[in-house]
This record gives sequence, C-alpha cells and structure tokens, in this order.
Amino acid sequence: MIRVENVKKEFVSAKKYPGLRGALKGLVSNEKVRKVAVDDISFHIKKGEIVGYIGSNGAGKSTTIKMMTGILTPTEGKCLVNGVDPCQNRKKNAKNIGVVFGQRTQLWWDLPLSESFTILKEIYDVSDEEYNERMEFLNRVLELNEFFSQPVRNLSLGQRMRADLGAALLHNPSVLYLDEPTIGLDIVVKDNIRAAIKEINEKYHTTVVLTTHDIQDIEELCSRILIIDKGKLIYDGSLVDLKDKYGTTRKVIMEVQDVNRAKNIPLDSYLSVDKEDYEITVDAENSSVTVSFDKNKLQVSDVIDQMLKHVDVKDIKVKETELGEIVMAIYNHDIVQEG
Ligand SMILES: Nc1ncnc2c1ncn2[C@@H]1O[C@H](COP(=O)(O)OP(=O)(O)O)[C@@H](O)[C@H]1O
Ligand SMILES: [Mg+2]
Repeated sequence: MIRVENVKKEFVSAKKYPGLRGALKGLVSNEKVRKVAVDDISFHIKKGEIVGYIGSNGAGKSTTIKMMTGILTPTEGKCLVNGVDPCQNRKKNAKNIGVVFGQRTQLWWDLPLSESFTILKEIYDVSDEEYNERMEFLNRVLELNEFFSQPVRNLSLGQRMRADLGAALLHNPSVLYLDEPTIGLDIVVKDNIRAAIKEINEKYHTTVVLTTHDIQDIEELCSRILIIDKGKLIYDGSLVDLKDKYGTTRKVIMEVQDVNRAKNIPLDSYLSVDKEDYEITVDAENSSVTVSFDKNKLQVSDVIDQMLKHVDVKDIKVKETELGEIVMAIYNHDIVQEG
C-alpha cells in the first residue's frame, strides 16, 4: 500500500542573523543553511495497518507525511502510495488518500460545515448514493449532525477535529494520514476520535498512518510503530516487541513500617546474586520503598519473598515499565539501538 524507499528531505533556507543589523545582513548575504529533516528513511505499510509514527518535536514526522501526500517532493528517494508517486501524480494520489493536520483545518472557515462537505463531494466526484451512505456512517461515528449547519469558525476544537476527520473520509480513501489528530482535545473527544478511527479501519480496511504525542492513542490503536529521531528511523516493529525488548524493568513498590531499615537491607546478599551482574536499586520516599530490577534476571516473587522476610511490609504493588517511559528513553538516547 505505502512504500517509502530511502527518502531524504533537505531544506535550504537563507541564514538568519540575530537582531536588526542581522536582519539587514541576512537580506544581502547569500549564505544558506541546510537542514536534513528526513534522512534516508525506508518502510513499507500493508493495507489495513494502523501505524503510529512517533518522535519528538522536529524529528521529521510532518515532513515525512507531507512527502507521502505529495505536498513536498523528496530530495532523494521515492514514495509510492497505491502504486502512485504522490509528487508526480498529485491528483490521482488525492483520490486515494485523506489527510488531517491537527494543527490547522482543511475546511472553509467561513462556510457552514455542510457547504464544505458539498464542495468536497464535487471535488472528489462522490455520487449522491455514496454521499448519503458515507454521511450516515460519519454521522453515526462522529456525530457531525450536532453542528452540521454551523460555520467552521464557530466550532469548538473537538467539533472541528471531528469535522476535519469526517471531511478527510468523505471520498472513502484507502489511506488516511493523521498528523496529531488528538492534540489539545479533552479525554471524551479523544476517545470518540479513537473509536471512530478504529471503526473506519475495521469496516473499510483503511490504512492509517498516525503521528501523535499521546501514548494512549498508540496503545489503543497501533499494532506497529515507527520511531523517528533527528530524521532517522530508529525503530520499526510491534508495540509488544518494544515492550519486551526495552520494558524489562519491574518495580516493586512497598509501604513499610521502617523506611530506613527497608532502604538499607542487603537485598543482593539475601537473593544471593552478584551486584555486578544484577542491578538492583532501592529508592525510598516517605513511607514507601521502590525496588527496581530486570525481570529477565530476577523473579518478582523472589524479591517480594525476601522483602517480606526481612521488612515489615504493609502494602505491595508491582509496576511494569510504561510505554511512555520506554519511548522517552529512546528519545533521550538512553537506549542504544542495535544493528
Ligand atoms: N519548510 C521548511 N523549511 C526549513 N526547515 C523546515 C521546514 N519544515 C520543517 N523544517 C525543519 O525540519 C525539521 C523536521 O520538521 P517536522 O517534520 O515538522 O517535525 P515534526 O513533525 O516531527 O515535529 C525541523 O527541524 C524543522 O524545523
Ligand atoms: Mg509535526
């Protein structure tokens, strides 16, 4: 469905200097700055997949999406969407895809939403029959009829996002690009948008590429994630594998009677392990201590056993590493990619 082959995007812009003097200098100088926003990225996406495309700000996510939609031309490499090169054949590509940029609307600001839909129906050449069927579906999953006659500028952010998503889907595209579709939305609207994406994907096998900062979007929607960092693809795989590979830290959190005693117990000797091989850390805060270790090296039950034997424990919780922490660690380069 989507093939991205060794794609690179370099932006060249005039060098800027600070201050007023700098602005004047900038006007006459020919100095250019080059910025490689996307650096030799390749991936394939199959029909019906929902792929999370994640990375910190400025990583190159939107630039990649813009190349896949044909808005930007790659400096090197090639994209193919449904066999079509989006840059060389923008019109044909437009029929296949729907796009939502969370940061700005694609709708006509001053027109009632209904008029925007009428215009889109004409642009995409959607028959009356298809239009009615689609609108019935979109009204059900996105509840557009609540505000269908209102001008777009009067819509709340949540309504606008539902409207934008509906508009992107009117022509039943086989690929849907969503660039931060849940940004700034409250929890209820986020849930609605996620449910809608799920249903559209299940019902029409729509392929979805989703960029987001919301870890919950990813956990609920994406079976596969691509992580981009400073223009380079640093991870391509399933969420489960990411967790298996990097999420091996377990934390046993205990409410204890005597924090100082709990904090200083020689756990490694009780567990008869060598400190060099097994990193066990014990942190204390107020009346609780947290023991962190690698679940592949030590059994959670052994750690708990030893603590219960030697400390007066009132309550116990076991925590897995959360996806958010793993992703943060990857962004922060705490995790070095192999291969
Ligand atoms: N039109 C442009 N001209 C120059 N630099 C750009 C342009 N668009 C994006 N960039 C730069 O490319 C990098 C990647 O941007 P972007 O793809 O928007 O990141 P993301 O969407 O992951 O936050 C950033 O450093 C950004 O400043
Ligand atoms: Mg972006």
